[in-house]
Amino acid sequence: MWPYPKIVAHRGGGTMAPENTLAGIRCGLSYGFRAVEFDVMLSSDGVPILMHDPVFGRTVRGMGKVEAFTAAQLSAMDAGSWFGSAFSGVRVCTFAQAIAFCRQHGVWMNVEIKPVEGYEVETGHVVAQMTQACFVAEVAAHIAAPSALTAANLPLLSSFSMEALRAAQVAAGAIPRACLMSTIADNWLQRCQEVEAVSVHTNHKFLSPVQATTIKESGYGLFCYTVNSLKRAGEILAWGVDGFCTDRIDLIAADLV
Ligand code: G3P
Ligand code: MG
Repeated sequence: MWPYPKIVAHRGGGTMAPENTLAGIRCGLSYGFRAVEFDVMLSSDGVPILMHDPVFGRTVRGMGKVEAFTAAQLSAMDAGSWFGSAFSGVRVCTFAQAIAFCRQHGVWMNVEIKPVEGYEVETGHVVAQMTQACFVAEVAAHIAAPSALTAANLPLLSSFSMEALRAAQVAAGAIPRACLMSTIADNWLQRCQEVEAVSVHTNHKFLSPVQATTIKESGYGLFCYTVNSLKRAGEILAWGVDGFCTDRIDLIAADLV
């Protein structure tokens, strides 16, 4: 059984606010979304921050690599203006800030570990360790008597990087993990077993009903990104997909299912 929310706001607030920011998560909340996906990578001083692209230019003005800047420098950078002048005060958000905000407002997190190339192990390690440190009581409760309820109180760490997932498993094995893959790989089961993942997260565009059935019948959760139409949501849910993230928080209700 899928213990987590079924419909999740992608990158914080989908297309309604600047991605991977507190303003985005807040916007998701205003649309009724108490579940969020966001991307995390490391600053030059090893601090996890919310960011999708490894280089500046799209969501934060400038050029060059995000990994070359410290968390203090990044935290001073404008991550909102690109989206609209109303968001010009919005700064790059640290993972710690995002956790604090989500805990305060009861928002469940799907944390996508998005390491910069070469930092897979370090990123997986730091993200998992920080998550565990912030959810000590929830981890203890889950270990003592695992259930859907105790699992739902923990964030879910996902990544395209097996190295990052392995490192997360070593650092904080009790925090659940998910294997991200754009298409269902032939060795999807082996990957899941290797890192003791609870679910497979995949691009809905390439998923077939047969694959969905196989994954579900094997006992794994199945989550899709990024579903932006009600029609498509209905189709994949009918195949047995457990949940999905969406950019269209204005179109797809958080409590659709
Ligand atoms: O976590 C699912 C999804 O976010 C993966 O794609 O590029 O939006 O991070 P991307
Ligand atoms: Mg993502």
